[in-house]
Amino acid sequence: MDDLATRDLIRYSGRGAFSPDVIARAEGSSVFTEDGRELLDFTSGQMSAILGHSHPEIVATVREQTARLDHLYSGMLSRPVIDLARRLTETVPEPLDKAMFLTTGAESNEAALRMAKLVTGKHEIISFARSWHGMTQAAAHATYSAGRVGYGPATPGNFALPVPDAFHPDLVDAHGDLDWRRQLDLGFDLIDAQSVGSLAACIVEPILSSGGVVDLPVGYLAALRDKCHERGMLLILDEAQTGLCRTGSWYAFERDGVVPDILTLSKTLGAGLPLAAVLTSAEIEQQAHDRGFLFFTTHVNDPLPAAVGNTVLDVLSRDRLDLRAGELGERLTGGLRELAGEHPVIGDVRGRGLLVGLELTAGSDGGDVDKLGAAVTQRCTELGLHMNIVQLPGMGGTFRIAPPLTATEAEIDRGLAILDEALTHVTRTK
Ligand SMILES: Cc1ncc(COP(=O)(O)O)c(C=O)c1O
Repeated sequence: MDDLATRDLIRYSGRGAFSPDVIARAEGSSVFTEDGRELLDFTSGQMSAILGHSHPEIVATVREQTARLDHLYSGMLSRPVIDLARRLTETVPEPLDKAMFLTTGAESNEAALRMAKLVTGKHEIISFARSWHGMTQAAAHATYSAGRVGYGPATPGNFALPVPDAFHPDLVDAHGDLDWRRQLDLGFDLIDAQSVGSLAACIVEPILSSGGVVDLPVGYLAALRDKCHERGMLLILDEAQTGLCRTGSWYAFERDGVVPDILTLSKTLGAGLPLAAVLTSAEIEQQAHDRGFLFFTTHVNDPLPAAVGNTVLDVLSRDRLDLRAGELGERLTGGLRELAGEHPVIGDVRGRGLLVGLELTAGSDGGDVDKLGAAVTQRCTELGLHMNIVQLPGMGGTFRIAPPLTATEAEIDRGLAILDEALTHVTRTK
């Protein structure tokens, strides 16, 4: 890409740069550069395009819905919104019976946090120390993985909880394994010590994605819910990346048998188009309404993205993409584990379904893992595979691999072969 291409653009990725190619079009699991090269898109765009790019049924829905009813005054309702609320609440357990629709993940978390504060009458918010909940005010102040420095004071009463990361355990038991119960107890002891008695909510991802694809240990979510409820707090689950079949079940929280007080969805709900949702119980919705809950945005409950959401639900359930994500996930993680046998720089393979983390290690020579990750990313791009690297200091060797749920076996295998070649090239020339 020449300098002219970026001359007029504001850069917004922290210290990161734009990807090197200008993308002309996308289809299925691939994007195509202006100079005609195909890149396998193993990030599903920004972890969103679960049906691949330009899925024919989404294209048809956008065409038809734009022509019939595109956008409305925010207080007006339309059939796509009414249908999506009913259908989406049918995909989640009781008592999550109420939904509203927004545009981005940050916005859905902003709405959830406002609702939690209004309903509890409190203001303190807990989230993980490597969380990412978005760039708007309350979401950003509950985000610890990046972006805190240089923007003035954060909202008082935001607390960080240590991440139960089994690969980098900070508190260990007698066997050297992560002692997450002790870690959770200690985390809450510190929060209780700092709290001014106004704990409103805890917001977490069931699998921390930007934080390095860290799956919560089995039992953790239930223990966290109990900690919240003991304190009169609400538990908000942010399933921006994990919701809508990506992990092999419709929602990641299903594994734990834990139902959040508020659930937020985004990215995957619109399968690449801007659609987000907040779901909660009729009881919480009533309390919020009684207190005058206000979250009136230009695109709240807009018909066009809601119609897209209905089509996403059609395709996911008709094609059983929950099962497909599980099968393809096994193929992908199986292949990555085979690569780990051949490439000692692979330290860990983890994740669920088609949300997979691959962590490179610096190795015995103490090399720079951030540089290693960057070199592998670059070589993958040259060879035709787009992969995303975690942008945290010292974690630049962790890849987030999340192909569309509509990917073929051949595409998964092609991605694995390219990664193999890239790892061989980079470690040979290191
Ligand atoms: C878990 C999670 N929540 C919220 C967000 C923010 O979503 P958006 O960028 O659509 O505001 C992200 C984005 O990466 C995310 O990963």
